[in-house]
Amino acid sequence: MLHSIDAGILFLQEEEVIKAGALDMKMTLDAVEETYALLGKGQVLNPPKTHIAMPIGSGANWGSFFNSMPCYIGGDYNIGGTKWAAESKKNATIPGIPYGIDITILSDPETVLPFCILDGTLITAMRTSAVAGVFAKHTVPKDAATALLVGAGVIGRTMIMAVCEAVPQIKKIYLADLDLAKAEALAADYKGVYDVEIIPTADAKSVAGEADVIITETTARSPFLDKSWLKPGLTVINMGSMEADLESVKASDIIAVDYWDQIITYDSKAAAQLYKAGELTKDQVIELSEMVLGNWEGRKEANQIINCSSLGLGALDIMIGYKLFLNAQKMGLGTHVKLWDKPLWE
Ligand SMILES: NC(=O)c1ccc[n+]([C@@H]2O[C@H](COP(=O)([O-])OP(=O)(O)OC[C@H]3O[C@@H](n4cnc5c(N)ncnc54)[C@H](O)[C@@H]3O)[C@@H](O)[C@H]2O)c1
Repeated sequence: MLHSIDAGILFLQEEEVIKAGALDMKMTLDAVEETYALLGKGQVLNPPKTHIAMPIGSGANWGSFFNSMPCYIGGDYNIGGTKWAAESKKNATIPGIPYGIDITILSDPETVLPFCILDGTLITAMRTSAVAGVFAKHTVPKDAATALLVGAGVIGRTMIMAVCEAVPQIKKIYLADLDLAKAEALAADYKGVYDVEIIPTADAKSVAGEADVIITETTARSPFLDKSWLKPGLTVINMGSMEADLESVKASDIIAVDYWDQIITYDSKAAAQLYKAGELTKDQVIELSEMVLGNWEGRKEANQIINCSSLGLGALDIMIGYKLFLNAQKMGLGTHVKLWDKPLWE
């Protein structure tokens, strides 16, 4: 099916993306499961993201990166696109700018014409936490009641939504951040929104022993979660890059990743380091696709320790962006722009 035969592009800014449903966590969780199911069935082309870290050399008082994340989703969708993703440490010091800033481009794979450009920042935050929610849904023990979320930034915010929607048996959340005021403010924002008690803390380790699932979404630059945080039956889900040390991952009974082919290309991820050291192979990990397709039988024993990690899949951004585009079209949202009235050369 052709999506576009002219050079028209619908531009959706953040406020319109919200009106189109970007903050709907249930839709996002469903879209994440659907995308990983399609990936597992071979219906998604999603090469490893291309990453550049800036600046060149050391000594600058800032550090940032760009990721280019192209993909194609086949099946009934037949859409292509890319996310241009970026994060900057400097933004943590500049009020009014998020740490991560993303833009999503949807293209018709047949004519290759772009047909929608939309703010991808909220989609990223929602789908990142939804991935952790889907991991949690498939891995936490049935009687899990307490979660520890480490990192009360943007992804920490959406993580509360994802945990409450995906694992509603969780009734207590410890929300930890080095910056206690941030954890307190976020906990206050969500007071009464879900049937859950949210307790802010600056000392994640002191409450780790109470948690059935620990989810980390920090900007830490060196691992802080070691073997002393582990207990039988625990699920650990790492969304950042430098959070759980190698020994704690190796001590886990089950290692799960979002997408093996990509995660092993990213040196800061524990799974990549273990793979490169010859200590982990693809057949030793469970991929998220296997979980959502029901090809993994789940915990064999209640006391198994499971470590999950994710690098993030461009196909999620395109899938969710496309759903928001369809909603926006129906709702008459957005600004229409054009690449050209008539192409100069063809
Ligand atoms: N896997 C994915 O698909 C994916 C996608 C987007 C972002 N991320 C990652 O999620 C992480 C969080 O992103 P964000 O946009 O929420 O950043 P943010 O700056 O909004 O929040 C990060 C928070 O982590 C806290 N923090 C840092 N080190 C900590 C530590 N050792 N203990 C406790 N708290 C600590 C900071 O104080 C801050 O509040 C980043 O590492 C980012 O790269 C992953």
